[in-house]
Amino acid sequence: MNFETCDLPPGPSAPGVMQMGKLLRDPHGYFSSCYRLYGNTFTLRLPGRPPTVITSDSGVIQSLSGSGYDGPGRHVDEFRYLVGNNSVLFAHGEPHRLLRKAITPPFHGDRIRGYAPEMLRITDAHIELWKTGDQRQMTRESRKITLDFIVRLVLGIDDSARLERFSAAYLGYMNYMTKPLVFGLSAYIGAQQVYDYVRGCPARKNPYPMDILFRRAARNFRVVDEMLQEEIHKCRTWTAASGPARTDILAMLTTVRLEDGAAMSDAVLRDQLLTLLIGGYESSANTFSWALYCLLRHPDALARVQKEVDTVMGKQFQPEKVKELEYVDAVMSESMRLFPVALYLPRLLKESMTVGSYTLPAGIVLGPSMFLVHRDPAIWERPHEFLPERFIGGKQQVRQFFPFGLGVWRCLGAPFAELQQRIMLARLVSRFDLRLLKPDRIRPVHVGVMVGPTRGLPIQIDSIRA
Ligand code: HEM
Repeated sequence: MNFETCDLPPGPSAPGVMQMGKLLRDPHGYFSSCYRLYGNTFTLRLPGRPPTVITSDSGVIQSLSGSGYDGPGRHVDEFRYLVGNNSVLFAHGEPHRLLRKAITPPFHGDRIRGYAPEMLRITDAHIELWKTGDQRQMTRESRKITLDFIVRLVLGIDDSARLERFSAAYLGYMNYMTKPLVFGLSAYIGAQQVYDYVRGCPARKNPYPMDILFRRAARNFRVVDEMLQEEIHKCRTWTAASGPARTDILAMLTTVRLEDGAAMSDAVLRDQLLTLLIGGYESSANTFSWALYCLLRHPDALARVQKEVDTVMGKQFQPEKVKELEYVDAVMSESMRLFPVALYLPRLLKESMTVGSYTLPAGIVLGPSMFLVHRDPAIWERPHEFLPERFIGGKQQVRQFFPFGLGVWRCLGAPFAELQQRIMLARLVSRFDLRLLKPDRIRPVHVGVMVGPTRGLPIQIDSIRA
């Protein structure tokens, strides 16, 4: 369909490449200036994609928070080469419902709470050598911790040499594949094409010219893939031999049955594990960095967190007590309100839809925006200020606050993420006095596929508290 002739909401007229450049360099500034110029619904034209109508219209948000598949589906084709075609990210309708039903039980809050002691142990292992005067890039540090959570608790790898080999190959792969160059290329030649380059090129006798760009990524991917296959195989053999119960999420996923009674095939399982890896570490690391940034910029809130943790935990940090940290929880929510790691949720319209005075045609992308809703002055008092108290003593409605997404597509790792964030934040600020380095130069930019702080959030450890 030729969208050029459609009557879409107004938006910037700059060429798509320039719009994309601004969005990558200054995501908050770009969204805020579009909101000021065009109101709560505007159209972006990004290269390689249908027009994207960003909106904070409350009727749209309400209608997309439902639990059915009759509305638009998710549009995240650019993730295809990161997670594989069988990922839950690309399933729709009944196949999505079935896959989600199979993957969700291991993520129920009660089960996840059992991981708290292990999460504390992993966090401590990463920070035990930190000393006064050290300078660290917090996004990088939290990436290492959150990747460790996923590799140990989701994949069940606890042999340190294997863990290191896996993490190095995975990070090598991800760091390259999330570069703007690769994203740009995938918009130009198509995500499936990039997928084929990465997964096909080590095996090809006569390489394609483009293979050279992806040679190293493909090598890293091959290590990741082989190790995942080995872990799946080990886990199936272990379960068949009735070894002592494993508590990792992979062990549970190998035993689930799809509705037709069949187990997930290795290829389907591998793609779900890749999805949990990417969903679990990068978003968590950036969310954590923003929470720390907010606290270090607000000494009163920081002092209150430290006091709460000291009072609740007493002499020894007890991971099962993190659920009592009400103010830490409020800090997490307030920082996700101000700095959600995704600005909007891309949904592909299957049918035309009315938004305000516009009838949007099928085939365009609708982007309900948590960034705009979270900063809407009609919903939030003093919307740009960090005021964690607003989250104490009451749940926010989904249509006002949705950092984990909406409806049937909502993040299924949210209970895992919330627990790990609380443990990391409570542990870190109760053990160290930290300071932001050059705080005025820190601003939101696209880091890989997420919005994170510039320069990896550099901090200094001023002293050790306990
Ligand atoms: C603070 C950390 C996290 C944030 C902010 C976050 C955010 C999100 C968002 C915005 C979505 C898209 C939802 C939509 O389209 O409506 C999503 C989906 C998803 N997330 Fe997370 N996430 C986090 C952590 C995790 C973790 C730890 C895991 C797993 C270990 C995970 C696994 C997933 C999966 C599998 C999906 C796809 C769900 C589906 O297609 O049904 N996420 N997440």
